[in-house]
Amino acid sequence: MKVVTTLAQLRDEVARLRTSGAVALVPTMGALHDGHLALVRRARELASSVVVSIFVNPTQFGPNEDLDAYPRQLAEDARLLEEAGVALLWAPSVEEVYPAGFATSISVSGVSEGLCGASRPGHFDGVATVVAKLFNQVQPDIALFGEKDWQQLAVIRRMARDLDYTHPHVSDIIGVPIVRESDGLALSSRNRYLSPEERAAAAALPTAMKQAIARIESGENVPATLAALEAELIRAGFSSVDYATLTDAGSLEPLAIMGNAPARLLVAARIGRTRLIDNMPVGESL
Ligand code: PAF
Repeated sequence: MKVVTTLAQLRDEVARLRTSGAVALVPTMGALHDGHLALVRRARELASSVVVSIFVNPTQFGPNEDLDAYPRQLAEDARLLEEAGVALLWAPSVEEVYPAGFATSISVSGVSEGLCGASRPGHFDGVATVVAKLFNQVQPDIALFGEKDWQQLAVIRRMARDLDYTHPHVSDIIGVPIVRESDGLALSSRNRYLSPEERAAAAALPTAMKQAIARIESGENVPATLAALEAELIRAGFSSVDYATLTDAGSLEPLAIMGNAPARLLVAARIGRTRLIDNMPVGESL
């Protein structure tokens, strides 16, 4: 696996990889776990070469968020990627991505606005902007993202369609299912912030979500079920719930009743200083 840190090196290396077939991009912020490696495994099934980017993108962190504390472990990440069969690691500096005078931002209205967009103003502008840059830099044939950030995936899909990334590059944006611990907690680089007590309590999130989904699927009142889910999380040790919302799976419009279209339960909740997000399909078993 080659590791490149400048755009000039990246372009040379990607041109070389492209001669042997399709190139897949897996964008990450590092601190890799098995959820990221599942993206790499899927990418290897779909393309001849896999490029992984590691860039802790400052523009998607709010002023009081964890940019400085965000885990950085490039050497360990590189070892995991090499073992996973990645061809190229793109690990630019902040200056390489945002040179002095950088003044452009991409804002995706609609899907960016509620849910995490409401409690993290500017977050999805930062995500859309850096992902658009990564698409331009690498010009992959396909790109893969985890379904754990369901809203992020919707924002990126909208941005790619609106800005015509889907031709000739990035012809497919692939969502890869969430990887979970044995107690159901979704893998996240931020899980390492949890104390042992918080980690134990955090398992209440997927458990309470599954219970709420069973109630919604059996026809119980949606707002009352979501209120009960929030109360259950607080009882289990979460300090606050940013949102617990049933949405249309595609548009992310909130739903007060379960219809026939695919729906998704999305939750963001805080435990100690850590904000956890999760999402699950609703109505699939009906
Ligand atoms: O999901 C992430 O790790 C980041 O938001 C992404 C897509 C790499 C953009 O910085």
